[in-house]
Amino acid sequence: MPPPLLTATFLILFLLTTTTTTTTSQESDPESDCTNKWIHIRYLPSQFNLDLLLNCSQYPLFDNFCSYLTNHGLGQKTHNNSHSWYRTDPFMLELIFHRRMLEYPCLTPDPNLADAIYIPYFAGLDSLNYLFGPQVNSSFLHGLDLYHYLVHLDTPSIWQKNFGHDHFLVMARSAWDFIQPLSNDPPIFGTSFLELPEFYNVTALTFEARAYPWQERAIPYPTSFHPPNLAFLDSWVNRVRKSRRSALMLFAAGGGISANPNIRRSIRLECENSTSMSMNGTGYDKLCEFVDCSNGICEHDPIRFMKPMLQASFCLQPPGDTPTRRSTFDGIIAGCIPVFFEELTAKKQYGWHMPEEKYKEFSVFIPKEDVVFKGLRILDVLMSIPRGEVRRMRENVIEMIPRIMYRKHGSSLGLRSKKDAFDIAVEGTLQRIKSRLEELTAQ
Ligand SMILES: *[C@@H]1O[C@H](CO)[C@@H](O)[C@H](O)[C@H]1NC(C)=O
Ligand SMILES: *[C@@H]1O[C@H](CO)[C@@H](O)[C@H](O)[C@H]1NC(C)=O
Ligand SMILES: *[C@@H]1O[C@H](CO)[C@@H](O)[C@H](O)[C@H]1NC(C)=O
Ligand SMILES: *[C@@H]1O[C@H](CO)[C@@H](O)[C@H](O)[C@H]1NC(C)=O
Ligand SMILES: *[C@@H]1O[C@H](CO)[C@@H](O)[C@H](O)[C@H]1NC(C)=O
Ligand SMILES: *[C@@H]1O[C@H](CO)[C@@H](O)[C@H](O)[C@H]1NC(C)=O
Repeated sequence: MPPPLLTATFLILFLLTTTTTTTTSQESDPESDCTNKWIHIRYLPSQFNLDLLLNCSQYPLFDNFCSYLTNHGLGQKTHNNSHSWYRTDPFMLELIFHRRMLEYPCLTPDPNLADAIYIPYFAGLDSLNYLFGPQVNSSFLHGLDLYHYLVHLDTPSIWQKNFGHDHFLVMARSAWDFIQPLSNDPPIFGTSFLELPEFYNVTALTFEARAYPWQERAIPYPTSFHPPNLAFLDSWVNRVRKSRRSALMLFAAGGGISANPNIRRSIRLECENSTSMSMNGTGYDKLCEFVDCSNGICEHDPIRFMKPMLQASFCLQPPGDTPTRRSTFDGIIAGCIPVFFEELTAKKQYGWHMPEEKYKEFSVFIPKEDVVFKGLRILDVLMSIPRGEVRRMRENVIEMIPRIMYRKHGSSLGLRSKKDAFDIAVEGTLQRIKSRLEELTAQ
């Protein structure tokens, strides 16, 4: 049972941190130059953030998520003596991001001095009632209260200065959940937040962007790894580097085998079949490892998949309901080379964190059509890659770990000197807003 006490404790901590914003930012590196980096956090009434957490056990058709709120959204530690590993639920990124924003070194209380304005709205959590709850038939309303508040109730000049072009927020779900066309009546699935002209000017950070994104940009899913200092990061990276890779490839997923041809089905069949193949001369004990994550058993239990990922050379990342997967990032944390089957899984998504031109150096691409319809075997492709090349790719994967992880809030100065997923997302957002504002003034 998720103790109400836990929630209460969390909220108290949360409120304390909120009121000590300035102290937190002063603690940071005094050398940091804030030119072009000033961010103002807009004040929002608690209905847009805190109140949504208080109801963590009451959302219809959605798990009670109270226990994931602890540690400012990182969740509970996996073990009492763990320093870096948590039972993190990716949907809590809105909290994690908010907490990190509070320790951002270039906060300003004056919106007129800000280069960007952060809206501390827990958009994904607020969407639950529209996605799965009583408001399912009014999903076009999602966001209108917020807009009304931002533009009419609270100091209207903050919005009007740049018509919202300098505002940004985090929506910790796929953009697909927010692009219900306003004309669908009754709605089929999702809210219309990203379809509302009211929010066209606002930059939204999501886990997955549309194929032709307009206002949203994709940022990494949080994994369970949140080291508090450089020593814990380094010791993990050393472990990853030394780990013996006894399996050639690994696939971690839930669900059964569907009867229709699709990439997940092909992978499962090839994996089951691989036990009859010869391992002679491959250097591996096993060609394919399958980690069964059915019924969500892996979601908050990273040990189930991190250990096998540490022991595999390649991690298969086929699309599921949507093209992206949290597992892409879990695999990178484990130094497991990602194998992609669609460009929308990562290459066309995470340009800020994993530059498009680098994909050949750290990942393998096998078009899913070649596997599903042309009988191309994944094992054959992977086995044909020379061992030296595999080692080089793995090294490039390992070097990406700091960029795609979300370090723990309040971490040491040493670790703060390395840019993590949050830092890179903020940098990208500032840059995007800067160029939008420049375009506007040029018009
Ligand atoms: C929280 O739950 C209560 C009772 O179910 C409901 O009345 C209230 O509107 C909910 N608040 C939010 C912000 O969802
Ligand atoms: C973890 O710590 C809590 C509180 O200190 C204690 O109640 C619990 O038994 C510990 N769990 C384990 C597995 O040691
Ligand atoms: C939503 O609309 C559908 C179709 O009109 C209806 O069957 C359903 O009961 C409605 N759901 C709610 C929660 O009002
Ligand atoms: C969005 O920006 C355009 C100018 O680029 C402006 O005309 C429009 O009113 C803005 N939308 C909102 C909702 O403020
Ligand atoms: C399974 O293995 C057999 C023998 O190695 C091979 O002929 C067959 O094509 C394989 N099937 C799949 C789906 O890979
Ligand atoms: C594997 O190699 C050994 C000797 O190197 C050989 O005796 C054996 O037949 C090979 N097995 C297969 C399945 O190729």
